[in-house]
Amino acid sequence: MEIEDVEIENQKEFMKKVSKKTNNKKYFILTMGCQLNENDSEKLSGMLEKMGYSETKDVRQANLAILNTCCVRENAEERLFGKVGELKVLKEKNDLIIAIGGCMMQEKHIQEKLKKSYPYVDIIFGTHTLHKFPEDLCRVLETREKIKDVIDINGTVYENIPIKRSNKISGSVTIMYGCNNFCTYCIVPYVRGRERSRKPKDIIKECEDLAKQGYKEIVLLGQNVNSYLKSEMEEIKQGKRIDENGDYSQIDSFAKLLKAINMIDGIERIRFISPHPKDFTDDVIEAISSCEKVCKFIHLPLQSGSTRMLKIMNRKYTKEQYLDLVDKIRNKIPSVKFSTDIIVGFAEESEEDFKETLDVVQKVGFEQVYMFIYSRRVGTPGDKMKNQVPDDVKHERFDRLKELVENKIADSNKEYIGTIQKVLVEGISKNNESMLTGRTDSNKVVVFDADKSLINSVIDLKIVEDHMWYFKGERIN
Ligand code: SAH
Ligand code: SF4
Ligand code: F3S
Repeated sequence: MEIEDVEIENQKEFMKKVSKKTNNKKYFILTMGCQLNENDSEKLSGMLEKMGYSETKDVRQANLAILNTCCVRENAEERLFGKVGELKVLKEKNDLIIAIGGCMMQEKHIQEKLKKSYPYVDIIFGTHTLHKFPEDLCRVLETREKIKDVIDINGTVYENIPIKRSNKISGSVTIMYGCNNFCTYCIVPYVRGRERSRKPKDIIKECEDLAKQGYKEIVLLGQNVNSYLKSEMEEIKQGKRIDENGDYSQIDSFAKLLKAINMIDGIERIRFISPHPKDFTDDVIEAISSCEKVCKFIHLPLQSGSTRMLKIMNRKYTKEQYLDLVDKIRNKIPSVKFSTDIIVGFAEESEEDFKETLDVVQKVGFEQVYMFIYSRRVGTPGDKMKNQVPDDVKHERFDRLKELVENKIADSNKEYIGTIQKVLVEGISKNNESMLTGRTDSNKVVVFDADKSLINSVIDLKIVEDHMWYFKGERIN
């Protein structure tokens, strides 16, 4: 048994201990941040349900409140401290246990602020100690002491943590943790540690289990999914790691992982976020092209269209390389669509640089663009750069980018009208209970009138109306 497995067995003992103390107890969990954090929260929920807790959406009913935090942009801090303040009242009234975890807890200045201004918080846990939550909770229940369980390491991979999934149609599967890229604006590598990939067999097993449970879609998650197993392969090459059990003999890359998941019966769609343009090798393009279940839809983060800015950002590609990559993928996979992430107003960004970003948006024609105003993060090189862009300029550029993005989306939406799209039916529409909602291969929302029994199946729909952020569809048979 590997040391990580021993640790998880150990945690199971704590789960048993806690379950003896819990009688009808409820937990509330609020997740901020990206899908990796959502997936972590699903594991926290899984552990808690094993410990006899059940979930409540109403924090006033809860015995335990968990906030799973993000720190990629600034506004998250204000939001968190606001929430922690609100919880104090409930703590006094209901003897609520308050636990705060996730990326922001890896930041020293946040730990200090919590200790000083919010001493009533019971558990502070980081991204590397999530699996130890049963132990932390057990200690609080037994001793009522305040616990800080945060370690600053490069990370370890733990398997077999119980999971309670929040989505019944689409299953998230984290394939790797951490990031090695150190883009100069980004805090993630500091709070999530270095890249480490899960073993192929563990990922395949999780996907097979999802298929058995009836899941139709799998979303593979990681900060840089197409560098899956890269560090491990490098270590094997250098003799620093031995593949004793042949774990990597069949699957040693992201492309091969896609191919293996594509073979799993029952799964109909495979998505992945996010790949990095610098690691988008030909084998990945070939795998997307040849695997019929892999959506022909790629989220390809651009960040800036200016080669000068990309260098300052440490992105390791130029504007031309990005555009060439898009062309190359389009040549191999003519139906492919793209979405992207863009940061506006990073330090040093001039009007000319910004125009290069507009130019790439104009040329590529993304289906969706996630736009962010640059937010300074303590401890990153970007925060120390001299020529920060004034707020009013950032906002003015953001508005111009938004206008172009919306015009381009309106154009590309027109092309959908009258086409037949394969749609995975996800459930009842939130805005109209008599309608169903689903997504196309290219992740566009389609709302349509059909029988509920179709939920969790893939059907053909004709796109008849364009409402900008969703389409109206009609059944064709
Ligand atoms: N690993 C992924 C995404 C990381 S975070 C990638 O490399 O694309 C998601 C997005 O948040 C990033 O793509 C980036 O556009 C944005 N982001 C990261 N740091 C930011 C910052 N300091 N200010 C504003 N946006 C930021
Ligand atoms: Fe952040 Fe860059 Fe890593 Fe993405 S690739 S998580 S933007 S450092
Ligand atoms: Fe935020 Fe952490 Fe994700 S910082 S974006 S929750 S990896």
